Amino acid sequence: MKFLVFSDYQKLSEAAAEQFSKQLRQKPDSLLGLATGSSPEGMYRELAKRKVDFSRAETVNLDEYVSLPATHSQSYAYFMRDKLFDLVNIDQKRTHIPCGTAKDLKEECLRYDELLKKLGHIDLQILGIGHNGHIGFNEPQDHFEKNTHVVDLKQSTIEANARFFSSLGEVPRQAITMGLYPIMTAKKIFLLASGEGKAKILKEAFFGPITPFVPASILQLHPDVTLFADEEAFRLCKI
Ligand code: GLP
Repeated sequence: MKFLVFSDYQKLSEAAAEQFSKQLRQKPDSLLGLATGSSPEGMYRELAKRKVDFSRAETVNLDEYVSLPATHSQSYAYFMRDKLFDLVNIDQKRTHIPCGTAKDLKEECLRYDELLKKLGHIDLQILGIGHNGHIGFNEPQDHFEKNTHVVDLKQSTIEANARFFSSLGEVPRQAITMGLYPIMTAKKIFLLASGEGKAKILKEAFFGPITPFVPASILQLHPDVTLFADEEAFRLCKI
């Protein structure tokens, strides 16, 4: 596990963008695992600014809200187009996100797992971390979930994400998320975390016991994880 600590969010975003573009320079046809949320936003902005070449890349996103169509401004499909895909030269046919409005959600989970199997191991997986330790939408529970699944979001997650909606009632209660297998078999993982609000969970995830009650703690078992954190988020971690 590598820990990179920066004075502020902008510096963190620039460094992550630099390492991300290095991946694409070394392997232009990389399979990239992408995340939404405020943590990777700055990195995406930097990637677009640097005109990084995505022409041969393929992407798989971690998750999507159940019931939000791709046109909804808070869907993750919309987020990805708005923050990255529309700003770089990626072939949008090679960008994949679970469909939150699929009639049969179980079928959709199977379809996504088949797709992941067909595409092979992710070359670089980007992650944020929820305040409760979730990665993607793998919420705390008594076991680690391997495959893509429908998840009932925890009340704390619904409340944390309410800031993006006009009211708490509008936040979807469920999501589809990639399971932990494709994340843990990614060749390389970058986890981005910034701000005081992430300090406690970073300490638990990376310096506490490995437990499904803190899903991100499983990353301690991965051979190539880099944490990009700002000083506020890293405050309680000791190395
Ligand atoms: C969301 C997403 C996660 C994200 C996390 C943290 O619920 N499903 O993929 O990492 O919350 O979000 P943020 O980066 O905005 O703190």
